[in-house]
Amino acid sequence: MQTIRELSDLRAWRAETAGTVALVPTMGALHAGHMALVAEAKGRADHVVASIFVNPTQFGPNEDLSRYPRREAADAAMLKDAGVAVLWAPEVATMYPDGFATKVQVAGLGEGLCGASRPGHFDGVSTVVAKLFGQVRPDVAVFGEKDWQQLAVVRRMAADLDLGVEVVGLPTQRDADGLALSSRNIYLTDEERLAARMLPRALGEASTAIGGGGDVAEALARGVAALDKAGFTVDYFELVDDALEANPAGTRLVAAARIGATRLIDNLAVEAR
Ligand code: PAF
Repeated sequence: MQTIRELSDLRAWRAETAGTVALVPTMGALHAGHMALVAEAKGRADHVVASIFVNPTQFGPNEDLSRYPRREAADAAMLKDAGVAVLWAPEVATMYPDGFATKVQVAGLGEGLCGASRPGHFDGVSTVVAKLFGQVRPDVAVFGEKDWQQLAVVRRMAADLDLGVEVVGLPTQRDADGLALSSRNIYLTDEERLAARMLPRALGEASTAIGGGGDVAEALARGVAALDKAGFTVDYFELVDDALEANPAGTRLVAAARIGATRLIDNLAVEAR
């Protein structure tokens, strides 16, 4: 595996590489969820590029940019073992050189839910993903469904800008107790980690109730109450429909909640029974 930090080197690699390329964009601190994305990418293209870039433009002023876990050496070893061809790990100044002035904004889809509680977040995501697509020029890019709204925003952006990249979403990978794998889980204290099990549990219970024809408002209120009781501050716990445009289409429960200093997100399909 080559680790590339300069755009000129990436372009040279791309120019001399025959066959299809899949991209797995990440911010590092890799876990089994990321490695599932890499495995999916391997099955879909001749070469896999993984990017590690902790993108400052998608963090708000009081968010966790400075403490976001950075462990490139361990990440690189995992990617190498998984058969990744290139680790694209640009510096901030390479991604955003002096004079950088462009913003990619996906109206509507990027505005509610996480977009409402994290103003500017999805502009940062869309801009950096558009840049990654332009830099790597992948045929396909693989994202996790845990970030359901991000997946919807990226799909819309890639389609609207005719980027020619197939955007694939992969189901959320979970710990044995149901908690969605996330680089941010390492922030949780032991006590918070135990309480965090309530997030997938509350989603599961609401999904079962709504799928069984139960009252939606009641099911959502019960979910919020269960999370409150477990020590969460709920940001949102909502039912969204195909308006989010992410695949698989269908009704989905989406949630974001804080426990201690950590903001967790998760989502679950609602299937009518
Ligand atoms: O999901 C992430 O890790 C990031 O939002 C992404 C897609 C790599 C863009 O910085």
